[in-house]
Amino acid sequence: MLQNLSRLREDAILGVMAKFRADPSPLKVDLGVGVYRDAAGNTPVLECVRRAERGILDAQTTKTYVAAAGRAEFNDAVIDLVLGRTHPAVADRRVICVQTPGGCGALRVGAQLLRVAAPAATVHVSDPTWANHVPLIGGAGLRLQRYPYYDAAGRRIAFDAMLEHLNGAAEGDIVLLHACCHNPTGADLDAQQWRAVAQILLRKRLLPYLDLAYQGFGEDVAADAAGVRLIADLVPECLIATSFSKNLGLYRERVGALLVIGANAHEAAAAQSHVLQIARSIYSMPPDHGAAIAARIFADADLSGSWIRELGAMRGRIRQMRGLLGQTLRRIGGDGRFDFLESQRGMFSLLGAPPAAIERLREEYHVYVMADGRMNLAGVMPSNAEYLADAIVRVLR
Ligand code: LMR
Repeated sequence: MLQNLSRLREDAILGVMAKFRADPSPLKVDLGVGVYRDAAGNTPVLECVRRAERGILDAQTTKTYVAAAGRAEFNDAVIDLVLGRTHPAVADRRVICVQTPGGCGALRVGAQLLRVAAPAATVHVSDPTWANHVPLIGGAGLRLQRYPYYDAAGRRIAFDAMLEHLNGAAEGDIVLLHACCHNPTGADLDAQQWRAVAQILLRKRLLPYLDLAYQGFGEDVAADAAGVRLIADLVPECLIATSFSKNLGLYRERVGALLVIGANAHEAAAAQSHVLQIARSIYSMPPDHGAAIAARIFADADLSGSWIRELGAMRGRIRQMRGLLGQTLRRIGGDGRFDFLESQRGMFSLLGAPPAAIERLREEYHVYVMADGRMNLAGVMPSNAEYLADAIVRVLR
């Protein structure tokens, strides 16, 4: 039977990660997979995570099951983080939150929920979008369509084209939106643009599905959720997939959550029953360790304070490296065509280079970016910025 399977191409992002790891060159630079790196190139365990983890290991008395929904205290804290303590949807009991294995788990469970609720709906995803959105959502059996998002030549959001596309979407369709730190462009909607999008969603009865994977990497935890909160204020129903891989550095522990906001408490409770059944049928229950760490941090003022400081330091370093690379490219290249690096946010920006240049970067200079030119700016360091800028200028000459 297995002879019927042909070998698949490797995953776009994980393939670059594997190639980087296999490269023995001491010159190699990793701007590939989206993980934070410090000035020495390490992805450290946050101090708040270490402290919380120690406390958990000392206090833990059992490894018995938790629940398909995960930890209740984690889910409650996530609602506060994403929507704020006083959001009216919370008071109206219209919000449910279920812990998932990472943001990917949330995206897939949410997609399966939508497949049950609206089997004929199309999910509109930004062009470009995170490579894994397509298999995660399409794999649940939903049809995908792309809406224009980024004007690659102008290095800005193609907002008019985006609105035109959404205006043409069918009633009941779903719109996947990056809540902050757009992956892969780093170009985010501003408050006015969020409002305009929310109005179309409302008028056209489109359901927003928000991917909040980088909360705290743009401005701060609250500001990065402003788009989500605005949508939740104006639109009766929405789904939000959130992740703590990046902002708590809990990548391999797989910590995420799916929030569903229903039009009323009854519909939210019905949605929750489906989410739990979907979770049970895929993985039964989410892993506990990472969520236990996150919950302990969120519940403790001292640990939370430490987290917010550490998150601010990660954000600050990426911003500095955006500045450093932008300025070094300006000096070596003699023009300002990479000035956009400083105004974009989060880990990623698009280099805007043809495939041949991306390949030369890898083959000749051991610089690893995604095939579409996505760069993880957390991989830039004072020690490699000059080398990197020089390589970029040379392959684009
Ligand atoms: C990325 O975008 O590189 C990260 O989110 C890692 C992944 O799973 O793709």
